[in-house]
Amino acid sequence: MGKLLVTGATGHLGRLTLQALLTQVPPHRLAGLARDPSRATDLAEQGVDIRKGDYFDHDSLVEAFDGVDRLLLVSAEALTDRDTQHANVITAAKQAGAQHVIFTAVQRREDSDARQIGVTDGDIFAENVLKNSGLTYTILRHPTFMEHLGVYIGADAYDKGVRVPEGDGTVAPATRHDLAAANVAVLTQDGHENTTYTLSGSEAASFRDIANALTEIHGSEVLYLPITAEEYTESQLAQGLPREVAEFLTSWATAITGGTFSENTGDLERLIGYRPTSYREFLAQNHPRLTQTETLDATKDLLEGEYVPSPDPMTREQVELYERTDGREGATMMGGPVVVVTMRGARSGKLRKVALMRIERDGVYAIGASAGGQARHPNWFHNLVAHPIVQLQDGPDRRLMTARVAEGPERESWLAYADGLYPFFADMRARAANDREVPLVLLEPAEG
Ligand SMILES: NC(=O)c1ccc[n+]([C@@H]2O[C@H](COP(=O)([O-])OP(=O)(O)OC[C@H]3O[C@@H](n4cnc5c(N)ncnc54)[C@H](OP(=O)(O)O)[C@@H]3O)[C@@H](O)[C@H]2O)c1
Repeated sequence: MGKLLVTGATGHLGRLTLQALLTQVPPHRLAGLARDPSRATDLAEQGVDIRKGDYFDHDSLVEAFDGVDRLLLVSAEALTDRDTQHANVITAAKQAGAQHVIFTAVQRREDSDARQIGVTDGDIFAENVLKNSGLTYTILRHPTFMEHLGVYIGADAYDKGVRVPEGDGTVAPATRHDLAAANVAVLTQDGHENTTYTLSGSEAASFRDIANALTEIHGSEVLYLPITAEEYTESQLAQGLPREVAEFLTSWATAITGGTFSENTGDLERLIGYRPTSYREFLAQNHPRLTQTETLDATKDLLEGEYVPSPDPMTREQVELYERTDGREGATMMGGPVVVVTMRGARSGKLRKVALMRIERDGVYAIGASAGGQARHPNWFHNLVAHPIVQLQDGPDRRLMTARVAEGPERESWLAYADGLYPFFADMRARAANDREVPLVLLEPAEG
């Protein structure tokens, strides 16, 4: 059986896809493509075969795709020569003997002549190359990434209102996490051959709906104030964006308001088998930082307070590296992926951060207070009991979660799941068993 290869292994979507695949597929069946493999050492440490290749370098791709059966082509960056890159990947996959290529495009309406700058024509080109290649294909058309909502709405939405181009078109945005789960479904299951899916999220919203949702979350009115496309571009330019990028963003915003994304198919939910995160849930979890663009936001904590780095150098350095690289580096411990939890110290009230093994199911995370099997609970456990609202960082995504200790059958179910991921966890519990029962803490999305 050939390998499953994911391109863009150093990017957000590719990395999330490989991390999710690792929970379902033996690592020896997984490969990732990276321009710079040294940025994917965490995945390599978990057994993923990281291969070097560049979409612009056809020969590098043929070599990288050796022994690959199914391949996920994470689309190339907008405003670059995407046609050359996508054609190279598809023809190289064919030449290397791959059977099935999955391509991530952007949602569009077949009945519309509307074109998003740098996206629509390139998607149509790549889809046609793929369909004519003789390879089995699956096309996954994405709505707006949920994580980009803040970019459209702007840094000052709470002060100045939601100022976007006029129009009642809607979009059902989806998180990269849910889109990665769809990638996993198509990579690992049969039945998606020669099919095109439109992966709208669970709930469609116009920008007016988004302003209303922000009003509810914020507790005071957030106005919906439509402006012209030209004014929108000007507002982006005023934030220091280059004209090309400002016009690109305007093209996306007007595509949303003009109805390009209005079709809500349910394909994503059917593929992943659970209800995707909705925009209301996402905004409720992320609203303290919605008013920043994603890039400006990356290092901001959702909890306010003075951060006191851990006295333990390993914890301190891993957290620092993980946060600085959006979870690309410092991402593993004992061979498994980690998350970073930021919490309030039980007595000091100051912010503390710790890297813990990643155990996740349907958006809920579990953390085991095994402390390597020691006799005492780790300090972080006492912090969580005293102050249950925490920040969880999983890769680039930060969100507020509420911690509670799992008990009874719920605990048993999570322990069984965790033991499946990390067999050493049971040994640690056994080591601690004479002194204490190792608590298992669940982190669930915080309300509002
Ligand atoms: N639907 C939406 O709202 C939306 C929004 C943004 C982007 N997108 C599209 O979705 C894709 C995935 O999103 P993302 O957030 O995962 O983007 P991302 O974090 O920027 O990741 C893009 C990945 O593609 C790789 N890549 C770029 N050019 C390459 C080349 N010439 N050869 C090999 N690899 C190359 C990058 O490698 P490096 O790490 O080496 O740079 C990176 O790993 C984007 O590339 C873009 O096409 C969609």
